[in-house]
Amino acid sequence: MKIATVQNNPVFGEKSSNITDLLKMMDSVKAELYILPEMSYSGYQVVSKEEAVKLADRVDSDNIMRFAEWSKSRDSAVILGFPEAAEDGKIYNSSIFITPEGERHVYRKSHLFYKEKLYYAPGNTGFFVNEWRGVKIGQAICFDWYFSESFRTLALLGADLIAHCTNIVMPYFQRAAFARAIENRVYIATSNRIGTESRESESFTYTGESVIVDPLGNYLVDAPSDKTGVFAAEIDTNLSRNKKLNDFNDVIADRREIFYKKQSF
Ligand code: ACM
Repeated sequence: MKIATVQNNPVFGEKSSNITDLLKMMDSVKAELYILPEMSYSGYQVVSKEEAVKLADRVDSDNIMRFAEWSKSRDSAVILGFPEAAEDGKIYNSSIFITPEGERHVYRKSHLFYKEKLYYAPGNTGFFVNEWRGVKIGQAICFDWYFSESFRTLALLGADLIAHCTNIVMPYFQRAAFARAIENRVYIATSNRIGTESRESESFTYTGESVIVDPLGNYLVDAPSDKTGVFAAEIDTNLSRNKKLNDFNDVIADRREIFYKKQSF
C-alpha cells in the first residue's frame, strides 16, 4: 500500500481555508492512505476552554464531511487530527480514520500534553486497530509516543502501521521513532506540522520532519523541518508481520510479561 504523510502549516482558526489547502496538497500526490497532523485544520494552541468548544467539530460536521467526500471521490483513505465535539458534551483531541467505503473510526488522545489538560477531556476510546484493504492500522496522537506502552499495545493488537498525527514541539520523536519501530516491528507514519503559532504570551514552533519508518528502522520518509508537502512511501505487511529477529528471537513472543507487572517487595 502506498501511504503519505501530509505536512502543513495551518493558520489558527481558519478551518475552511486550511481544509482547502490540505485537500489541494493531497491532490498533488496519489496515495491510498493519507495521514495528516494533529489538529490538522484548526490550529493547535487554544487559550481557553471556551475557545476549544468554539473550535471543535462533530464527526458528521461539514468540515469532516469535506474529507469524507474527498476520500470517496479519490478512493483513498484519510486519517486526520481534529478537535472533536463529542456527543457526551466533552471536547477531545481526536483523530478520525475515514475510508472511501464510508467507515469512520475515532481515536481520542490518551496522553494529553501540557495545557491540553486544561482544555480537553482525556481520551476514553483506548487503543484499537482497524483493517483496511489488507493493512491493520492503529491510531495514536502526538504525546502518546512518549509512553512506549501506547505503540506496544497497538503492536500487540496486530497493527502493521501506526498512523501518528502530531504537532510536535519537542525535538525527540523523529529519532525515537526508530526505537518504537524496531521494538515493535511496525511501520510508523508520523505527520507533523511546521511553522510557529503565537497566542497570547506563548509561542510554539513545530518541528516538521514528518517520518515514515519501516519495521527495520529504515526511514522511508524524512521530510524537511521548514517545508509543507506530501511525502509518500510503500509499505509491505510481510515485513510488519514478521516479528522474528533471528532463528531464536521473536520481539513479541519473547516478552516476559510476568516480569513487567508492578512488583511488590
Ligand atoms: C503534543 O502532544 N502535541 C506535543
